[in-house]
Amino acid sequence: MHRAGVSRSAFGRLPDGRPVELFTLTNAHGIEVRAMTYGAIITSIRTPDRNGTQADIALGFDSLGGYLAGSPYFGAVVGRYANRIAGGRFTLDGVGYQLARNNGPNTLHGGARGFDKVLWRGEPFEAGSTVGVRLRYDSPDGEEGYPGAVAVQVTYTLNDADELIVDYEASTTKATPINLSQHTYWNLHGDGRDILDHVLTLNASAFTPVDSTLIPTGQIAPVAGTPFDFRRATPIGARINDQHEQLRFGRGYDHNWVIDRDRPGGGGGALVHAARLEDPVSGRRLDISTTEPGLQFYSGNFLDGSIKGKGGRVYGHRTGLCLETQHYPDSPNHANFPSTILRPGQRYQSRTVFAFTR
Ligand code: BGC
Repeated sequence: MHRAGVSRSAFGRLPDGRPVELFTLTNAHGIEVRAMTYGAIITSIRTPDRNGTQADIALGFDSLGGYLAGSPYFGAVVGRYANRIAGGRFTLDGVGYQLARNNGPNTLHGGARGFDKVLWRGEPFEAGSTVGVRLRYDSPDGEEGYPGAVAVQVTYTLNDADELIVDYEASTTKATPINLSQHTYWNLHGDGRDILDHVLTLNASAFTPVDSTLIPTGQIAPVAGTPFDFRRATPIGARINDQHEQLRFGRGYDHNWVIDRDRPGGGGGALVHAARLEDPVSGRRLDISTTEPGLQFYSGNFLDGSIKGKGGRVYGHRTGLCLETQHYPDSPNHANFPSTILRPGQRYQSRTVFAFTR
């Protein structure tokens, strides 16, 4: 039996000298989650397999230097706008905005220096067997070209139900698009093998097809009869090489699914089950519930062996996958998508729960 707790330690310094802190959350079953103040990044998640053997099921680096040298958003909170905005352009209340284009012709995950590359402030908390860390960041008006000063808070909570709860809150001084997500790369094997044998279920009857630069066409397309139908548990590798234009554009899966809800077309709301990921080898299982309307499933297609991560492990093609609960990509340019505009006086609130079983 373990004792639930949260500890705080130093995790190096940024080039400008500011110290980065690391928080280690542990629950009574020995599940351990580590998160740091740089990028609100989850650096590791240790869970038991069916035999009780612990392993780290999240990709990342051993030290801060790895994250600073260049990371494909391993474990980070992505924002101010998670996912892509076409041409880095949008119009809001009649005013046009231009963001940095950091992904071909588009803006990805907030721009050149998104929320994954800024220093947050962290405060740990403990309430009985529930432990966590509250991370805060004040994004100045005009940061990365976005209007309004935005105060953001992300809370990571670990409880004895073996759930990692991520709560997002934000407020703004001017109307702005906002879309926050968690960019952990999962590998339930907890080793260097690829994730093609992981079995995925998605509670989604539709997805948002994209163009060749991964910007949604605006269509909400049924998944029925396509390799995008994960309503029944299916190994990720089963159809990933099918001849399908959308798989070609994504180089695999890199798309937003529209989570099924009682009230379709809504901008989210109640917590619903969105995804289940199972590893038949280790017996580990991850269930994801969210208040968000969408989920980007990215099958790690751009991992190519050029990154050396924790313990010197080389992250090869598809050795990690992301399940990013969020609003749909490029929503500011699609009137038919649930709105991502936050206005002064409103409160942005969003929750995603990651539940670990075996
Ligand atoms: C995107 C991928 C991208 C990755 C970052 C995901 O959210 O959908 O296209 O490559 O983030 O490396």
